[in-house]
Amino acid sequence: MKVVITAGPTREFLDPVRFLSNPSTGRMGFACASEGVDRGHDVVLISGPVSLPTPDGLRRVDVVSASDMWEAVRLAFGECDVLIMCAAVADWTVDVPAETKLKKGTMESLTVSLIRTRDILASVSAENESATLVGFAAETDHVIEAATHKLKSKGLDLIVANDVTVPGAGFGGETNVATLLPASGGAIDCGLLTKRALAARIFDWVEATRRSD
Ligand code: C5P
Repeated sequence: MKVVITAGPTREFLDPVRFLSNPSTGRMGFACASEGVDRGHDVVLISGPVSLPTPDGLRRVDVVSASDMWEAVRLAFGECDVLIMCAAVADWTVDVPAETKLKKGTMESLTVSLIRTRDILASVSAENESATLVGFAAETDHVIEAATHKLKSKGLDLIVANDVTVPGAGFGGETNVATLLPASGGAIDCGLLTKRALAARIFDWVEATRRSD
């Protein structure tokens, strides 16, 4: 299968030297990419700024902002069988970034106007109806309800719901605690797994679903 995987955070610059971002390290996306390659798939890994080595056997595309990631996904998506959006894409970006460094001078406060970024998953789905779409929902409360809402509103085939407040889950570590929620119904509770083992569970589901289609 041709698989496009996104990983890591995005950066939304306020001025040439300052940005808004999040603590994503890219580990979940890179684990999915390695798992995909080891299963013989043709993998394109679209990554925000991370400090992880590129796994062998895939094509990596580096991006910075949510808008760059949207462009890169759009370019790769038309051809792909599966899109796995692990990236922690910014939900807002800076409306008018300053062209030169903002001088703090005597400014005691700074108000920055943010605008919504485009939802990549939701906006690309119409462009390739045969692709299997997998999203992630990192939540701090009402995890299953919030993930189910995203599964439906973004038109996904599968969402990986995880409570980032649970020990062993969330940003940075080697493990995750997740529940797979397929659009077809049911819930697969994966418990505490390494990110690589969770990636394997995701590919097990995707491969079985595409075989039965
Ligand atoms: O809505 P929320 O950001 O929680 O949704 C998470 C899922 O949506 C992730 O799979 C993420 O990669 C994806 N996403 C996206 N485009 C955005 C924001 C999130 O594709 N602008």
